[in-house]
Amino acid sequence: MGNYWSVTKYNDIMHVDTNAAIFSSDLNLGGVMLRDIEPEHQWPSFITMDEPRHGPQRKTVSPMFTPTHLNELAVLIRERSAEVLDNLPRDVTFNWVDRVSVELTTQMLATLFDFPWEDRRKLTRWSDIATALPKSLLYASEEQRLAELGECADYFTRLWNERINVEPRSDLISMMAHSEATRHMDRDNLLGNLILLIVGGNDTTRNSMTGSVLALNENPDEYDKLRNNHALIDSFVPEVIRWQTPLAHMRRTALQDTELGGKTIKKGDRVVMWYVSGNRDDDVITNADSFIVDRARPRNHLSFGFGIHRCVGMRLAELQLKIIWEEILKRFDNIEVVGEPERVYSSFVRGYATLPVRINA
Ligand code: HEM
Repeated sequence: MGNYWSVTKYNDIMHVDTNAAIFSSDLNLGGVMLRDIEPEHQWPSFITMDEPRHGPQRKTVSPMFTPTHLNELAVLIRERSAEVLDNLPRDVTFNWVDRVSVELTTQMLATLFDFPWEDRRKLTRWSDIATALPKSLLYASEEQRLAELGECADYFTRLWNERINVEPRSDLISMMAHSEATRHMDRDNLLGNLILLIVGGNDTTRNSMTGSVLALNENPDEYDKLRNNHALIDSFVPEVIRWQTPLAHMRRTALQDTELGGKTIKKGDRVVMWYVSGNRDDDVITNADSFIVDRARPRNHLSFGFGIHRCVGMRLAELQLKIIWEEILKRFDNIEVVGEPERVYSSFVRGYATLPVRINA
């Protein structure tokens, strides 16, 4: 693994994240993951690019997340959330992760890509293995993992070739196929951007949906507050995203010698921003270890990053969580966690493989 600096204080993380001219995300220097990626497995995406390459590729997909487009998506998200919730079993234990969190985020991804509906769980699988570590037991060998990601590239290449030859539409593949900044991407850059969008839209929102149920069960007084005042959903959602911090860190590489927190960082050093620690920094966030649904400044958190790479899908993630909780509170008085969650083996994704719950009739 080699040496790296761990940045753990809120303001230091903010300094690194908002100084892209000093702290690079460039894949050729190692990218944004803690571990350097071997050149033969490098799939460049715009999260692993500095300016001037990053901006135009990001701009290509950002129309997906404008307020107007999100208003349109909200109708669909509500219908689907209602359907998934109405079909949940009563008086038996079931896995919230699979029945709700995975299903809803996968449906959303299929919509964003206009991906064949019946194959949508392929997106879940590709997202899971893209970030999985060998000890996660999700795949048997690195060869198998790469073969599956190759299948992902082939599948999307087929969709790409269909869409590049017809009129532009409002799905992410068509947007990239018709934009000057992305239409000439090579296969590796295409796969890189696809994996970025799949992982971005899948794991993170999924784990916030699961985390929201767990957080309320661990803090019953907070659950009561929300039950009694549904308007608190607006502060509850960002509080869950802070509490969960679905992505524990992002990494940068120093482009020059620089000072940080009284230390000298040398050109070429690896710098890891631990969002998960910054989100518990009592110097900036009052009672940072507590989960408080009516927190005064709930958006004061690092979970979406800051600076030029700040999450492009953050408003969509918040919208999905807001709608599902509006629909949950209309229907169920209690979603009871009845066992320990099983966590995903990762230092990057803070997530859950299972969460056993029960809803009484
Ligand atoms: C709770 C949900 C989410 C969390 C916690 C989250 C977190 C993050 C973080 C930490 C970054 C990097 C920020 C930085 O380096 O400064 C990021 C970037 C990104 N996220 Fe999200 N994300 C979420 C949901 C989504 C969704 C729903 C999508 C899309 C469907 C998405 C797509 C992206 C993309 C494309 C980037 C790269 C942006 C860039 O490099 O300019 N994310 N996200």
